[in-house]
Amino acid sequence: MTRKAFVIGHPIAHSRSPLIHGTWFAQYGIDGSYEAIDVAPDALPDFFNRLRGGEFAGGNVTIPHKEAVFALCDSVDDLAKTIGAVNTLVVREGKVHGYNTDYLGFLGNLDDKAPGWDKDLKAALVIGAGGAARAILVALQSRNIPIILANRTRRSADALASMLGGKISLCELDEINCAAPLAGLVVNTTSVGMHGTRFENFDLNVLGSDTTVTDIVYSPLVTPLLADAQAAGLKTVDGLGMLLHQAVPGFADWFGVRPTVTPELRARIEATLDH
Ligand code: ATR
Repeated sequence: MTRKAFVIGHPIAHSRSPLIHGTWFAQYGIDGSYEAIDVAPDALPDFFNRLRGGEFAGGNVTIPHKEAVFALCDSVDDLAKTIGAVNTLVVREGKVHGYNTDYLGFLGNLDDKAPGWDKDLKAALVIGAGGAARAILVALQSRNIPIILANRTRRSADALASMLGGKISLCELDEINCAAPLAGLVVNTTSVGMHGTRFENFDLNVLGSDTTVTDIVYSPLVTPLLADAQAAGLKTVDGLGMLLHQAVPGFADWFGVRPTVTPELRARIEATLDH
């Protein structure tokens, strides 16, 4: 019998996840399906009832449902609670279990594209203090990396740092050039870069020559931040790999095969992006 999975969001038409999972079905010869389903916020409880009926092995959750599904899941793992978001669901014996793979996607991307990136890393500069930042801070803390957190709104950064605890120092976004030289890794977790925008006052020439710069924005693939970093001679890692790697654990749970992120998969998804 065909095993079924899904991604729910609202809207959902733009999702690349069906193409990612479809590529793996073909590669591993799996009789599976993965469909994008538009679920409006007020239809979520009904969708969860449908899930408990056993139609699906599980699925992914994207904007705007990553927080709302908490209350609907029968259990949520501790890391997802710390991150404050669920992006993956598994259905077992009529119960829906939620977890979060975004932090694994972030780490998997860097491990793949910048092997050894965390070795002797003195600090990571993280820009932004929203939901995406939270998963990335948890990921960096799992590797014991000290964090410098820069956000436009200081209050949000304060709240996030005190909630997570650990080694997080704060820096004003307009003083980023003072803190940046201490960082061996720079991560943009904001939407800045999506429409040709950049952090206008961030001078990438202050960074050490062995600094890696990464962005969670993957459309465009080379954001202005990454283009500026390349022009400054720095190593860059684009955000597409995070999307690909975050999909791995769900596929493994639903279909019983742990898939790999290959250059062919990447090329296939890259072909669908703006450049
Ligand atoms: P997500 O859940 O995708 O991370 P979010 O919670 O809305 O989205 O967070 C967006 C982050 O991007 C925030 O840190 C936001 O900064 P503020 O806390 O000051 O709002 C940051 N951000 C968005 N647009 C920005 C801009 N033009 N310049 C600087 N930071 C920006």
